[in-house]
Amino acid sequence: MIVGVPREIFPGERRVALVPGVLPALAKAGLEVVVEAGAGVEAGYADAEYESKGAKILPRREDVFSSADIIVQVLGYGSNDRTGRADLPLLKRGQVLIGFLRPLGDVHTLEELAASGVTSFSVELMPRITRAQNMDALSSMATICGYKAVLIGADKLPKLFPMLTTAAGTITPSRVLVIGAGVAGLQAIATARRLGAVVSAYDLRPVVKEQVQSLGGRFVELPIEAADAQDAGGYAKAQDESFYQKQRELLGKVVAESDVVITTAVVPGKKSPVLVTKDMVEKMTLGSVIVDLAAERGGNCELTRSEEIIVAHGVTIVGTINLASSVPYHASQMYAKNLTNFLLHIVKDGKLALNLEDEIARSTLVTQSGEVVNPRLREFFNLPALAAAQ
Ligand SMILES: NC(=O)c1ccc[n+]([C@@H]2O[C@H](COP(=O)([O-])OP(=O)(O)OC[C@H]3O[C@@H](n4cnc5c(N)ncnc54)[C@H](O)[C@@H]3O)[C@@H](O)[C@H]2O)c1
Repeated sequence: MIVGVPREIFPGERRVALVPGVLPALAKAGLEVVVEAGAGVEAGYADAEYESKGAKILPRREDVFSSADIIVQVLGYGSNDRTGRADLPLLKRGQVLIGFLRPLGDVHTLEELAASGVTSFSVELMPRITRAQNMDALSSMATICGYKAVLIGADKLPKLFPMLTTAAGTITPSRVLVIGAGVAGLQAIATARRLGAVVSAYDLRPVVKEQVQSLGGRFVELPIEAADAQDAGGYAKAQDESFYQKQRELLGKVVAESDVVITTAVVPGKKSPVLVTKDMVEKMTLGSVIVDLAAERGGNCELTRSEEIIVAHGVTIVGTINLASSVPYHASQMYAKNLTNFLLHIVKDGKLALNLEDEIARSTLVTQSGEVVNPRLREFFNLPALAAAQ
């Protein structure tokens, strides 16, 4: 089977789906790779490197799509909501498509993908089970985002992060607050600590307290308890507005005392909860920074503008999206490793071996034979159950 790697076409995207280093493992499994010319250049991987690992470079995008049995992308149609549609006519019936497809986004996009006849897999739907950990692209990208958020915060802050004792006096360390201590949040805590900041973190899931503390962060305890804080997959559950209201009141003081606030609180398939209001921003010290990693999904700060960096009431609010793309070398390396593990899982003896008894394949499969077949997505979008699934 041939795996095709088209160049990413989302504006500003610098990652690539496969890096040369994973090609030997794919070859061993009987998978040949074709790469669109220049696909890895922005991430730091030259065409010649792919060629030296056995890939064929094709100058024309159409040829990558027409020659491949499996297309792998970072931002496929769906998560590439700007230019992704251009790939629809290039997809072939029965071809396999794997990538970030934003499956909980827009049902019409899924239906269009289904109509193209592709067998598509969305990496966002990877189940959170031990077996699938090395295929979990969301976690890989979240790790990168958490790290980069801290660097941006440190860069925008008119203060130093570490405590310094110098001949010119003692500099007190900056205070960083991380709201949402999932994968991105935990990496942000570790990175901010390495830079010498005093770090605290809050999450509505009390189970993360120990993880925060083990990274040297202080866990902020609020005297409210979320009903049913997490679902079976370990994701936070949406709470009612009165809970968020109470949370904001209690978080206000901690936010006001922080130099940098990094927010990562998202709820899958829902608009992100507003946890930092305009009033709270007004109470922050001049020059403080908010890096809102939830910006793409509405933002955790009321004043966040997606894709923009603004200054409001003297506070810099960073709403930059797609941060993982700003560390493209390692983001691509991690993503490529995740995809390779997934490919090796669903391909046996050089052929697609789709076993729907297997939780990994079943959870990630989105469309097949012209239909949106994923039961979770059909339920989410109120589509009638498929005859075969009834
Ligand atoms: N294979 C696996 O077992 C596996 C893989 C990845 C992650 N996980 C676990 O899943 C959990 C979720 O991780 P994630 O990074 O994907 O989460 P996420 O990106 O969905 O959310 C980020 C964090 O925001 C928190 N949050 C949501 N609403 C909030 C609110 N109102 N107030 C405060 N915090 C709020 C969530 O609890 C979460 O910790 C983590 O415990 C992680 O370790 C397990």
